[in-house]
Amino acid sequence: MTDWHPALHGHWHAVALARDIARRPVAVSLLGVHLALARTDAGEWIALEDRCPHRQAPLSAGCVDGEKISCPYHGWSFDHSGRLCAVPGLPDEAALPKVGVRAFAACERDGIIWVRPGDAGEVQPNALVELADASTRRLSWRTRLQANVVDAMENMLDPVHTHFVHPGLVRREGRRASVTATYTANRDGFQVDFESDAPQSGLLYRLFESRRTLERAHFATPGSIRLEYGYANGSRITFDLHFTPITTEETDVFACVHVAGRWAPAWAVRLLAGPLLRRVVEQDARILKLQADNRRRFGPRQGASTSLDIVRPAIEHFWSFGALPDGDEQRVVEMRL
Ligand code: FES
Ligand SMILES: [Fe+2]
Repeated sequence: MTDWHPALHGHWHAVALARDIARRPVAVSLLGVHLALARTDAGEWIALEDRCPHRQAPLSAGCVDGEKISCPYHGWSFDHSGRLCAVPGLPDEAALPKVGVRAFAACERDGIIWVRPGDAGEVQPNALVELADASTRRLSWRTRLQANVVDAMENMLDPVHTHFVHPGLVRREGRRASVTATYTANRDGFQVDFESDAPQSGLLYRLFESRRTLERAHFATPGSIRLEYGYANGSRITFDLHFTPITTEETDVFACVHVAGRWAPAWAVRLLAGPLLRRVVEQDARILKLQADNRRRFGPRQGASTSLDIVRPAIEHFWSFGALPDGDEQRVVEMRL
């Protein structure tokens, strides 16, 4: 996958954590598009192509001027629609040149800034993002993976690697139990429900969880994953992970942890669960980089799969063809985890 399917530009992609953007614009790249993203004085989001039409200086190196971004070189300024508003030094009666910059749709949801790189397409981010309850968010972070977006998403949804990449932390070998996974396609992607009579074998489960009444993984196009855990006392923990390709070999992940219905202030989640979750992410980042390096060393090749590899086909199809596969309805898979 070297060229991006044009349909991917019609979707909303996560590009930044809102808290990381203060007074200055930032440079953002995704799917071959480069833009300058800024928060205006009124708190609106402005996303413009990162190239001034005057002498091609990057607007992301400029500054926010009220509701506009001004260029760092000669100070031309542009509003949220990309219209040229001022050329410093030009006499008042002189007409401005009829140029502007391309503007992109941008919005904030659940502490993350979303951009649609195409002029047309979806009117808002996917349903997983729209339904996220920001009041239950306890932790969020951003990680850059040296990995293709499909490999990275498969990793996050795949339970079978956990015994080897996260031994003891997520699951442990020698303590496997039967699990039934039910894959169901839907309009936005799919969900996988996991059912088992045995508790999960890793440290994270023993420290922070109790008997699960629900374990469900969701995928929503283009790049959102939700891992959802429900408990007998009605509480719920969800991990939302949003994947955005910078290049075919680099992917940004924006993660949010939500906790509902149990005592879990943000500081406690950060202090207690934060270091262990960070360790899990580092372990995944390491294996994904080894995989990417080896793909480069040997060249592309289709992998062999078994029934355990439930999620790859739909995600790969979407990122290759810009649409979910037809006739992908339901599968029940028995596995030992
Ligand atoms: S390059 Fe932007 S104002 Fe000159
Ligand atoms: Fe993992």
